[in-house]
Amino acid sequence: MTTPHTIAVLGLGRMGSAIATRLTAQDLDVVGWTRSGRTSSTHETAGDVRQAVAKAGLVLLALSDGPACRQVLDDVRDSLRTDTIVLNTSTIAPAEAAGLARRLGPSYIHAPLLGSVPAAAAGALHILAAADQDVLERVRPVLDTLGTVRSVDDAATAAALKLIANHSLAGAVLALRDALRHADALGLPRAQALDVLELGGLGGLVARKRTFLTGRPATATAEFTIGALAKDMALLAAASNAPLRSTAGLAGAAAGPETDIAVAATVPAADDAVLEPLRAYIRGHATGDPAHFRDAFLPTARIEGIRDGAFVSWPLDEYCALFPGRPAPDEATRSRRIDTLGVHGTVATATMTLSHGADTFTDTFLLVRADDSWRIANKTYHRHL
Ligand SMILES: NC(=O)c1ccc[n+]([C@@H]2O[C@H](COP(=O)([O-])OP(=O)(O)OC[C@H]3O[C@@H](n4cnc5c(N)ncnc54)[C@H](OP(=O)(O)O)[C@@H]3O)[C@@H](O)[C@H]2O)c1
Repeated sequence: MTTPHTIAVLGLGRMGSAIATRLTAQDLDVVGWTRSGRTSSTHETAGDVRQAVAKAGLVLLALSDGPACRQVLDDVRDSLRTDTIVLNTSTIAPAEAAGLARRLGPSYIHAPLLGSVPAAAAGALHILAAADQDVLERVRPVLDTLGTVRSVDDAATAAALKLIANHSLAGAVLALRDALRHADALGLPRAQALDVLELGGLGGLVARKRTFLTGRPATATAEFTIGALAKDMALLAAASNAPLRSTAGLAGAAAGPETDIAVAATVPAADDAVLEPLRAYIRGHATGDPAHFRDAFLPTARIEGIRDGAFVSWPLDEYCALFPGRPAPDEATRSRRIDTLGVHGTVATATMTLSHGADTFTDTFLLVRADDSWRIANKTYHRHL
């Protein structure tokens, strides 16, 4: 088994730079190239991508997305040696990975990476490698310097597994955001909340990203950006053709796309103003006073659902007429809880659970911000039997 002599690393962004530096530190012969022409003090760079690959036995791609991979491979196609192996570590769509594997044949290894810049620097990545076994054995000494190899059947599967792994990362970031928002609502000091969260299920993320979570993110360089993770979630949503909560959650992060993913966990809760009509609605139920519903809803609102097996659609007046102006006799045992809230500029959606004696209702709301105040535009409900 011989290590491919020269390794061309194409794409010297966050991951490409860390990989090229790691390989060089392991005494491997590296030449880097990146579109913007940036050079490096830790390894050789080439100004021309064809020149970078001409001598290389292994071409390693660390590029933003599928179109970038296609573009760069088109550009170097005629300069690759016949025995050169192309190892693509970029996170791309399963169909894009399958397309590149078909186009390049057995010399192509699709090898998306689990782990970020610190793991690349330490040789502690997890590498999901889809490859012909002989070809994989040829590059194994190189991969072993970067981390642990996990063999996967084919390129599309490797790409899909990588997207699933990142889905759990996006979910963890959004779960951390929820936890920090509740901690803020309870007036807990951020450092104390993070100390305790570090002991739990999100502990690894909190420990790795502490610098970004303590309110001084501007001082740290992003390791993995919100933009890149949002790109991955968009790829997953498109590939699975199924709704994906984290796409909207990340898109809603006020932090810019070039900031680290952990900064998305520090975005404060939506302005309280959007909760005001929902709280007025709760007051309406608690007191039985329809004036609160008139504060909560737009006058044009309709309240819709299935009642006694038939669809009903009440205008606001008809709905308000159901309330007698005093609390229900069992009000002390009733409870209401806002479960979800999604704000999208001037519109929002929310859901609420109401436990009213033997009845449990799920209410869903559409809200609109008009004339600088939020009101419920419409409500639908389900009565659980
Ligand atoms: N960062 C992480 O923690 C991490 C972890 C695992 C996997 N990944 C994945 O690894 C890949 C690289 O991530 P990264 O964080 O290193 O991204 P990055 O810092 O944004 O670097 C992206 C690289 O792609 C190059 N590029 C973009 N568009 C190009 C095009 N059309 N033609 C040629 N080159 C182009 C950029 O070149 P210039 O900057 O020179 O223009 C840069 O070298 C992505 O697929 C990402 O999803 C990232």
